[in-house]
Amino acid sequence: MNKAIYPGTFDPITFGHIDIIERCSKIYDEVVVGVLNSSNNKKMLFDAVDRKEMIEKSISHLDNVNVKIFNSLLVDFANNEKCKVIIRGLRVLSDFEYEFKMALMNRNLNDSITTLFMMPHEKYTHISSSLLKEVIFLNGKIDDYAPTIVIDRINKKINEK
Ligand code: COA
Repeated sequence: MNKAIYPGTFDPITFGHIDIIERCSKIYDEVVVGVLNSSNNKKMLFDAVDRKEMIEKSISHLDNVNVKIFNSLLVDFANNEKCKVIIRGLRVLSDFEYEFKMALMNRNLNDSITTLFMMPHEKYTHISSSLLKEVIFLNGKIDDYAPTIVIDRINKKINEK
């Protein structure tokens, strides 16, 4: 079976991520969205279960996509999933250096798994999860960039403060 993993922290998912997931779901028989549980480099707004739930609700129109939480090396997660392809999105030139290093390190760790890159629609190339959180925390609108469930969940966090 033709299967791909699309990994990330998804804190939270945006239309840019969904654009990539939709493109993958047209090409692969099965797509696994891999949600990294915790990262040393990032403080998360949402826990992994919430991030997974927001993704599931946002991609419920796609039959061949599953969402799974992982807490290991990405290549080990891919191996456990019996998956040989990792998909990464490339938005702007500045993504390239980071992606290049990560793809080569992953290849070094497990040469049987290949990283492939896709470009999201250009209307999403300037966004990131952090940028959207910053805008909404300062009362800006992000309706063009994130699903309603994400906007509602961020607003809930703001109201809890
Ligand atoms: N549309 C909108 N935003 C996008 C996007 C898209 N198509 N693609 C990426 N982004 C944003 C993300 O929202 C994220 O924003 P943030 O930094 O504000 O949160 C940013 O771009 C970076 O995203 P990404 O490159 O996917 O990084 P990540 O931190 O979400 O995920 C992992 C990185 C999980 C893939 C990586 O850390 C990993 O594999 N970890 C597992 C441990 C491991 O194997 N480490 C060794 C790797 S060599």
